[in-house]
Amino acid sequence: MIYFDQAASSFPKPPEVADAMVKAVNEVGANPGRGGHQLARQANYIINTAREKIAKWIGCNNPKQIVFFSNATQALNQAIKGLDWKEGDHVLTTSFEHNSVRRPLEFIKRTYDIHISYIDGKASEEMFISEVNNSITDKTKLMVMTHASNITGDILPLRKMINIAKRYGIITLVDASQTAGHLPINMGEQEMDMIVFPGHKGILGPQGTGVLAVRQQIDLVPLHHGGTGGGSELIDQPQQWPDRYESGTLNTPGIAGLSAAISVLEQSEKNNVPRETILTNELLKGLQSINGITCFGPSSSDNRLPIVAFNIKNIPSQEVAMILDSHYNIAVRAGLHCSPLTHETLQTMDQGIIRVSLSRYNTKEEVQSFLQAIEEIVTAYDEF
Ligand code: ALA
Repeated sequence: MIYFDQAASSFPKPPEVADAMVKAVNEVGANPGRGGHQLARQANYIINTAREKIAKWIGCNNPKQIVFFSNATQALNQAIKGLDWKEGDHVLTTSFEHNSVRRPLEFIKRTYDIHISYIDGKASEEMFISEVNNSITDKTKLMVMTHASNITGDILPLRKMINIAKRYGIITLVDASQTAGHLPINMGEQEMDMIVFPGHKGILGPQGTGVLAVRQQIDLVPLHHGGTGGGSELIDQPQQWPDRYESGTLNTPGIAGLSAAISVLEQSEKNNVPRETILTNELLKGLQSINGITCFGPSSSDNRLPIVAFNIKNIPSQEVAMILDSHYNIAVRAGLHCSPLTHETLQTMDQGIIRVSLSRYNTKEEVQSFLQAIEEIVTAYDEF
């Protein structure tokens, strides 16, 4: 199998990830933060070490403000719905957002009667930034933006957007679902208020892990209520972070795996030029040279993630993905990728898009086989 669906969930993982998870299951097993016995303390140690590692890795000054969730969607829901919304408030966001941002936003729009501006992410950077500027009102409370499109791999001008938000005292929330593990993140230097990312994509950690990091405490209303290990005498959620937002038993094996994945990443960040960037360039050049292919997103590998989005003439994207899977044993993702707004912008709602996404475990040979398969499919349709 050639696995080119890394943006949905990365595979394979570094062996250290499964090793850490197996160790947590087989040798620790207890409930972190519940009980004072040795195994509970060991489980707690795994969680706290992971919190500290993540805080350092993303430049968050307080590890207690690293909050674990089961995935990025849950973390985004907490960040968005947890704010103190008032009728007439305004949110500024982009047309590149995933449903994990759009749906919570549309929910608060209906619930609190707020307004949302979706800025066209396909516009030139100059027009995009000017539109961001022009859309701000004195009611703008939140700027929420994906760091990069999960469909085209376009990277958004985060720094410029945050500068604007800072000027007007607007809270910023960055959805780094596609970029964490691929692009450097430093909440302090980049002045982000909140950031969310999953463990299972670019970081190459396990599924079932998601993080919300908050740089300076923002008083979010907790979405979940329940046991937090301490303060059991209180009828309300405790005030302290992260307990306030982490009701119920945490995913200790998953968090152990996430921590191991970040350690591996830190090592490779020091030693290597990302292989996936080189492969993306080859893939893009190869596709651009085939007649009948339309590529979406940036025209070179500069300023993009290892994601390439394309279509073959007007052939439905799902049909091509099915042929790639059943005939060539190649996994890609086609369709709308949970981001209908992006497809509306690209005018690909009917056809969808074929998305190829790479990781550092993919190879040059796989890219060549893929390009060969696409040439054969194009030829077959031409002859049909
Ligand atoms: N958000 C994931 C994707 O883009 C699932 O495929």
